Formats: sequence, structure tokens, C-alpha cells
Amino acid sequence: MKNIVLLISGSGSNMAAIIRTAEEHHWAKRLNARVSAVISNKADAEGLALAKQHGIATAVVDHKAFADQPSPREAFDAALMAEIDQHKPHLVVLAGFMRILTPGFVAHYEGRLINIHPSLLPAFTGLNTHARAIEAGCKFAGATVHRVTAELDHGPILAQAIVPVLPDDTADTLAARVLTQEHLIYPKAVEELLAK
Ligand code: GAR
Repeated sequence: MKNIVLLISGSGSNMAAIIRTAEEHHWAKRLNARVSAVISNKADAEGLALAKQHGIATAVVDHKAFADQPSPREAFDAALMAEIDQHKPHLVVLAGFMRILTPGFVAHYEGRLINIHPSLLPAFTGLNTHARAIEAGCKFAGATVHRVTAELDHGPILAQAIVPVLPDDTADTLAARVLTQEHLIYPKAVEELLAK
């Protein structure tokens, strides 16, 4: 069985889209794959409850618990890796996981680690992508599914979706339009990787 581990930090709507697609497209039967765990760095991430409802194992590795370590980022990533590796993942899917990962973490999951970012990469890496796209006068915005490399929001592009930026858009209205597209391209990209 190809195990998928999803990492979230918040609402988990991309996670939900992947779980729903896994069920509707019969990944277990067709692709010998399943979402085996959802792990969050925040105990109050809304997505955890939905994962539990679907019978998926959940765990929390709180990054704040490592703040007093000599190397907090490395310590957090080591704990996260230990949690993830219990599930022997075929794929580790970052779905709104808002932590910068260490090069050691990225190397450990080389070829198995993917992310979705709410911009048309390589434009607008980092945070506040929608406000920055509006500010720059972009006529189009979108989202990118990509393999994760040590450089933040870089790595080979697997899929993109494009939406128009409308004259009266705010960061929130644009984010909502992009998010509906994320929910289509991310499950599809995961499915294509599983089918390889
Ligand atoms: C999504 O828009 C995702 O692209 C973005 O966070 C949101 C999470 O929503 N990710 C990043 O900004 C990563 N740097 P969700 O929790 O509802 O899936």
C-alpha cells in the first residue's frame, strides 16, 4: 500500500479535497494508495477533526514546544520526521503547512515531498501572495503544485491553475477564487504521481 501523509497547519481545505478524491476515485482499489495520516504543527488546526471523521490517523507536532532547544528548527523537523516515518510514506503532501523546512528534512523526503503554493511560481514566493499580485497589477493569478527542494517555494512544477484578477478584487476574494482551483489541481497532481 502506498501511504500518503498530509501535513497541515490550518483549515485543511486542500487536505479535505485530497481525502474526498481518494474516496471518490477509489485510490485504495485502483492505485493501492491511501491517506494514512494527517499531521499538524498546530493542535487547533480545523482539518484534524475532519481527518478523524474519515478514520485517518492524526498527530500534532507543535513547533512551539522546541523553541528552547539549541536548534529549534532542526529539533522540530526531527520530531516531525519521526512521526511521519511511522507511516512509511510513499508521498508527503504539504497542504497549507506553514513552516519552513530544513534542508535535512527536504533531503530525507527527496522525490516524495510536494507542496501547493497560492501563486503562479516562480512569481510571488513566500507570504501574502494575493495582496502582492493585486499590488503588482497582475491580470492573472493562480496556484502551483511543485516538488519541494531546499529553496523555499522553488522546485519542479507539477501543475498550475490560472484565474483572472478582477478589478474589484481584494486579497480575500482573490484567495477564494484561487483556492477553488487548488482543490482541483492538487488531488489530480497527487493522483498522477500515485499512478506513475
Ligand atoms: C492554501 O491557499 C495554500 O496554497 C496555502 O495556504 C492555504 C491553505 O489552505 N499555502 C501556502 O501559503 C504555503 N506557503 P487550506 O489549509 O484550506 O488547504
